[in-house]
Amino acid sequence: MPGAKKIDKKSKTEIVKVRLGKRSYDIVIGENLLAEAGKRIAKLKPGTSVAIVTDGNVAHHHLAMLEKSLEAAKIAYRSVLLSAGEGTKSFSNLETVAEAILQSRIERGDLVVALGGGVIGDLAGFAASVVRRGVDFVQIPTTLLAQVDSSVGGKTGINSPQGKNLIGAFHQPALVLADLKTLDTLPAREFRAGYAEVTKYGLINDAKFFAWLEKSAPEIFAGGPARAKAVATSCKAKAAIVGRDERESGERALLNLGHTFGHALEAATGYSDRLLHGEGVALGMVLAFRLSAKLKLCKDADVQRVIKHLAGVGLPVKLSQIPGSLPGPDGLLSLMMQDKKVVRGKLVFILAKGIGKAFIAKSVDTNAVRELLKDALAE
Ligand code: NAD
Ligand code: GLY
Repeated sequence: MPGAKKIDKKSKTEIVKVRLGKRSYDIVIGENLLAEAGKRIAKLKPGTSVAIVTDGNVAHHHLAMLEKSLEAAKIAYRSVLLSAGEGTKSFSNLETVAEAILQSRIERGDLVVALGGGVIGDLAGFAASVVRRGVDFVQIPTTLLAQVDSSVGGKTGINSPQGKNLIGAFHQPALVLADLKTLDTLPAREFRAGYAEVTKYGLINDAKFFAWLEKSAPEIFAGGPARAKAVATSCKAKAAIVGRDERESGERALLNLGHTFGHALEAATGYSDRLLHGEGVALGMVLAFRLSAKLKLCKDADVQRVIKHLAGVGLPVKLSQIPGSLPGPDGLLSLMMQDKKVVRGKLVFILAKGIGKAFIAKSVDTNAVRELLKDALAE
């Protein structure tokens, strides 16, 4: 079964399998996995050398532990440090990382290790996909967002001034190590942003999970078993969808719930800390549910439930919560037209018939979207 979950009771790790034939891999979820990363990497690829790609914040908290565990496993490594933030997913950093990988004499049979959030995972994974026409890579995600979403599924890439993630490749990791302990050093705002993607899985196709999140959010934010369950359930949901539709020829587009609006808002705010990716997704999911209600596809009560839950954990649910000014409805629509789901110039949205009932809507009336944006910008 795609996305099957196995629990190792002794070490308290959970393993979620991403089943993609020859490109299958494990997502290992547990505490203190950084300390055993060297052992796991040596087992995955005996004799490998490693190029670690990370950012300054993550390096400060977690790089020493990873390096120590590689040394203990007698793995040669070089660490490449980048600045933190969305702006790092750029052409110039792709060059920096690719050159650093080549300078460290990483061969085709060696490994790139992405230690960090989605920015590092997307950039390092993309570099790994092109250097020497493809080197394997391991994801060690250190944000909630990366653990539940970006480290899984093989989408890698960088941003263009034209829009988010417009340059990239599908390149599946060989292994994902989600060390829950690394989340203890994550700033609260970043944890909240990642939580938007957790909520997304409930809203897409798992109403029971959404109801559990409504009840369990305080425990999830406190860490411990509820946080572990939220990560594992999210990974299982994503692994199942990716296992059925690796290249997004259909169902995988559901994972973009909220992203058409969210990516436009991120572009409008210059990929800056005015709006984190997960915050854009939260706002985008609210707008997707509002659009669904406007088109009489779902009940207003569903919209209110989504808003209540996201606002309850401190995520933005109104456009006025974004600091600074935004373009008008047509400006936002124009940014949305760069979305990768646009087909023959027509916007494709992920809409919902209720909580856990998302679907792909191929012919959405642009006027309804413009009206919704106008209302949302005026609030
Ligand atoms: P991020 O990588 O920018 O990390 C957020 C911040 O937290 C950064 O400042 C980082 O330095 C810091 N940080 C990371 N781990 C830390 C830790 N353990 N302790 C302290 N600080 C830490 O952002 P993100 O939210 O992880 O990822 C967002 C990116 O992921 C976006 O570019 C988005 O497009 C991408 N994404 C990709 C996919 C995919 O399928 N490839 C899916 C979702 C999102
Ligand atoms: N985050 C969307 C996807 O992986 O398809």
